[in-house]
Amino acid sequence: MAPETATEPLLTPPQQRRPGYRALGLAVTAVLVLLLLLLSAAGPLRPRLFSPPQERVPLTLLAGAVEKGAVCLDGTPPGYHLKRGSGDGANNWLVHLEGGGWCSTVEECSNRRMSAFGSSNFMKPIRFAAAILDSDQLQNPDFYNWNKVYVRYCDGASFSGDAEAHAQDGTMLHFRGLRIYEAVIHELMEKGLANATQALLTGCSAGGLAAMLHCDDFSARFLQEVSVKCLIDAGFFLDVKDISGERSFWSLYDGVVHLQNVSKVLPRDCLANKEPTECFFPAELIKSIRAPTFILNSGYDSWQIRNVIVPGSSAPDKSWLSCKDNIWNCTSTQIEVLDGFWNTMVNALKVVKDKEDWGMFIDSCFTHCQTLSRISWNSPTSPRLGNKTIGEAIGDWHSGRRHGVKDIDCKYPCNPTCSSLLPS
Ligand SMILES: *[C@@H]1O[C@H](CO)[C@@H](O)[C@H](O)[C@H]1NC(C)=O
Ligand SMILES: *[C@@H]1O[C@H](CO)[C@@H](O)[C@H](O)[C@H]1NC(C)=O
Ligand SMILES: *[C@@H]1O[C@H](CO)[C@@H](O)[C@H](O)[C@H]1NC(C)=O
Ligand SMILES: *[C@@H]1O[C@H](CO)[C@@H](O)[C@H](O)[C@H]1NC(C)=O
Repeated sequence: MAPETATEPLLTPPQQRRPGYRALGLAVTAVLVLLLLLLSAAGPLRPRLFSPPQERVPLTLLAGAVEKGAVCLDGTPPGYHLKRGSGDGANNWLVHLEGGGWCSTVEECSNRRMSAFGSSNFMKPIRFAAAILDSDQLQNPDFYNWNKVYVRYCDGASFSGDAEAHAQDGTMLHFRGLRIYEAVIHELMEKGLANATQALLTGCSAGGLAAMLHCDDFSARFLQEVSVKCLIDAGFFLDVKDISGERSFWSLYDGVVHLQNVSKVLPRDCLANKEPTECFFPAELIKSIRAPTFILNSGYDSWQIRNVIVPGSSAPDKSWLSCKDNIWNCTSTQIEVLDGFWNTMVNALKVVKDKEDWGMFIDSCFTHCQTLSRISWNSPTSPRLGNKTIGEAIGDWHSGRRHGVKDIDCKYPCNPTCSSLLPS
């Protein structure tokens, strides 16, 4: 059975996220995704989480993309949204790599071409009203006036593949995520990134994995006196068995790694001892990243519960279906399984404790992607650890106002700041 992760985008651009999203079911096709994106753009389904709306940031298509072979799955040029910084933020740059699952087979990648996750023909302007992209100083005191870039994800392999294949209909499928990353960074350099005094590479979900894969490469592009850091939001995907005992998520990654030829971005020291697929997992990646990095993740990540622990292929019974729908519905036996996942994550993150300039915020809220929603980021309803919101903890780490921002929550359901309003 095809892993459902393949066709379920993790994240639509901020203004298009809506609470009822997961009700679509995990079998949603790329065509449906497109239809819904269009519907949500039309108004009635637009969530109130991101009000007040700010101005639309247009899509910039990458110049010379086709000549460089830096193209989306369908051969169209990739794109990004750039909002210029101002004041004392004019030379600071935040580069966010969009997330949205992966495609691990020719068929899945072919289907993605019918959506913005595989073709710029479907990409629209977005609004930067949310959270870390917010220009409101109160909501986002540390980054509000930075240059901000939201790089669209249209390759299906976390900006890391380099290959091509024939689709079943005979047309060419382009797996050029690595070229997209390189060409976009090159173009941004010319637009002022080269003069940055501070730069932050970030991303959420599959984009968080991408930020991890490229963190040291990004950092190496700047002079030593430039502050370059990486922020990984909900990108800490674990190699754990699902409830039927299969390593189904490992199989998905194995498909992505081989189909899309991602080995160039994997750390050499890992490849020397391990299978490439294993080196695509964050637990391995964090061992070799040298740039200061912040890991933000829930230990009960709702996306991983639905797609790694209880994927459709694990044939969950009704009680598991309601548990993955909402963690409140889980039985104590099911919570024990989720606690096992939490333990695996906390163990894998032990290496972070010894890394001086690193930070982490591992909460126990049932959610996914916490830098892109106001509710999660820095509001009265945000999850708190040590009485700090996520926005405060990341600001403290980034600015060096507080040392050793390495906060790990207690196990679910201990944290009273885990609001049911959080996007899940
Ligand atoms: C795989 O990627 C590497 C590095 O980008 C590239 O040199 C090589 O040609 C690719 N292999 C295939 C089969 O495309
Ligand atoms: C970087 O700064 C230098 C000196 O101020 C300026 O000449 C150059 O045009 C800038 N480059 C970019 C890409 O903004
Ligand atoms: C799960 O919990 C939510 C919130 O408590 C509730 O509204 C919903 O009906 C429950 N779903 C199932 C299938 O039990
Ligand atoms: C927690 O922080 C809020 C403001 O962010 C403050 O009003 C409150 O007093 C703090 N609570 C404790 C227990 O420190």
